[in-house]
Amino acid sequence: MSNSERTTEAKATSEKLVELAKRRGYFFQSSGAYGGVGGFYTFGPQGAALKSNVEDTWRDRFALAEGNMEIDAPTIMPEPVFEASGHLDGFDDMLIECPECGTSSRADHLVEDNTEYEDAESLPIPEVESVIAEYELVCPECGAGLADVAVENFNLMFDTNIGPGDAQPGYLRPETAQGIFVEFPRLKEYARNQLPFGVTQIGRAYRNEISPRRSIIRTREFTQAELEHFIDPDEDEPDLESVEDVTVTLYPAYEQQAEDGTPIKTTIGEAVADGIIANEWVAYFLGISKPWYDAIGVDMDRFRFRQHLAGERAHYAADCWDAEGEIDGNWIELAGFAYRGDYDLSKHADHSGDRFTVFKQYDEPKTVERATVDPDMSYLGPEFGGDAQRVVSELERLAERDRSLFTGETIELAIDDETHEIPVDKTGFAVEEQTEAGEHVTPHVVEPSFGVDRLVYTVLHHAYSEDEVDGEERTYLQLDPEVAPTVVGVFPLQTDDALEAEATAIASELRAAGLSVTYDDSGNIGRRYRRQDEVGTPFCVTVDYETIEADERTVTVRERDSTEQKRLPIDELPETLSALRAGAVTFAEL
Ligand code: GAP
Repeated sequence: MSNSERTTEAKATSEKLVELAKRRGYFFQSSGAYGGVGGFYTFGPQGAALKSNVEDTWRDRFALAEGNMEIDAPTIMPEPVFEASGHLDGFDDMLIECPECGTSSRADHLVEDNTEYEDAESLPIPEVESVIAEYELVCPECGAGLADVAVENFNLMFDTNIGPGDAQPGYLRPETAQGIFVEFPRLKEYARNQLPFGVTQIGRAYRNEISPRRSIIRTREFTQAELEHFIDPDEDEPDLESVEDVTVTLYPAYEQQAEDGTPIKTTIGEAVADGIIANEWVAYFLGISKPWYDAIGVDMDRFRFRQHLAGERAHYAADCWDAEGEIDGNWIELAGFAYRGDYDLSKHADHSGDRFTVFKQYDEPKTVERATVDPDMSYLGPEFGGDAQRVVSELERLAERDRSLFTGETIELAIDDETHEIPVDKTGFAVEEQTEAGEHVTPHVVEPSFGVDRLVYTVLHHAYSEDEVDGEERTYLQLDPEVAPTVVGVFPLQTDDALEAEATAIASELRAAGLSVTYDDSGNIGRRYRRQDEVGTPFCVTVDYETIEADERTVTVRERDSTEQKRLPIDELPETLSALRAGAVTFAEL
């Protein structure tokens, strides 16, 4: 099958999936009664349950199994947070606006979709403008030429005001991560000041995307599941042995840049030994993520890890790999695994003046040279009034950072964007020998950051199947029972009080056992099976006359994928279906 045939077929799948999602309550555009608004989606009853199941398995794997802490921070944060994080200045996409119809497009996407450039995001704006001119690209909406139109940086954050008036500007967080970083001074206490430790958060993030597209793949409000793992870069090592045999498909930067470059199949252990994955912590998180993706139903033949090219990396990332899933013949980013170094904690320390460090005790006390200040308050007090203490903190910080600043007659420091000159002889600067029990280290951060909505879409897309049953076409979602929104459908075979009473009792008992159950007594039994197949319910239980009349109380249990049916005792249903859901037993083994 050619690539274009594959793309056409896959696109058809996407279209059918989006229809199914709406019809069966997975997801649909929000505020439909008012015409809908681009980039906002509501998860219906099935979608909300699938999403919540995916989040639960993520929590099990990345919070509980790793011994990490989970927090839940606000989604609106004040402006200084994003000044410090760099989002205010650098969280931009390239915007081009059609002079004829006013349609806004992402200039890099326009280039990628219509030329052979694959990574236009990493190009500087003037180069993107030249490519648009050279290829005579046009507005995707009205076809007007864009050759002479300027490309601009557009900041993706939604802004708001906190409280009445505009005195305190705030922003809807563009990543959940900042909610973790800003609380580091407190979180480190909960970790008893011991590195390494990890903090997770599952929550909403907001980005005012220029052109949201492909339903829930690129939206303006979405859910992230992020882990910020804080380490001592000089000491902490991951448990690589536990993942060294995990096989992975990797698409390193050098293969992407080679003319005939292709992804390579290897193990995590070999990839680290060969220097393909340079950072062991990133390798560890790729290693624990791959089996997790597999377990929740991402097709491993349509899954890979791709390294970011140098120009593609976010402003904070020293190295980054993406988990990617294949959809519509295209690879989409499901998660990013970034080594953020000490970027975030240092920035928040600089901007807030709080301590974003952990005290590391030495095995033996050490005698070290320390630069200290003991400022002359009789000078600073009258000179700086209420800001005198901030000046002291800044002098302490500068002395720790760069003692060469104190070699001249005056030292410059900035308070609230104003530069002040202070005579060095008023700072009490000195370099002294001190015996110290330990040091304050700024932890480095390794960050696996997962997009939940895209993952839900990918799980559904990879589960979408069609076949023929009893001469009829059937659509079904081959969802893994662990994440399927409904685990069991319970049906009375016919409209009959006795059958309905028995089926209702079975449904209640299965619910009491913690299973998600739907009860359906409308339409013929074949139609009810098709309905559950389309929703992705892995098992159906049918109550018939044999159930209520025979001495041995049994029901028919049908498996979605094979459509095979088996007769099982009612008493064993809760245990058997729970085992099937957990993957402890297969239907064929019953
Ligand atoms: N804290 C790091 C961070 O936010 P990111 O690569 O920008 O990194 C992480 O986002 C994940 O969030 C992505 O891999 C993707 O799955 C998801 N994501 C990002 N933007 C999105 C959008 N507009 N709609 C849906 N999901 C998105």
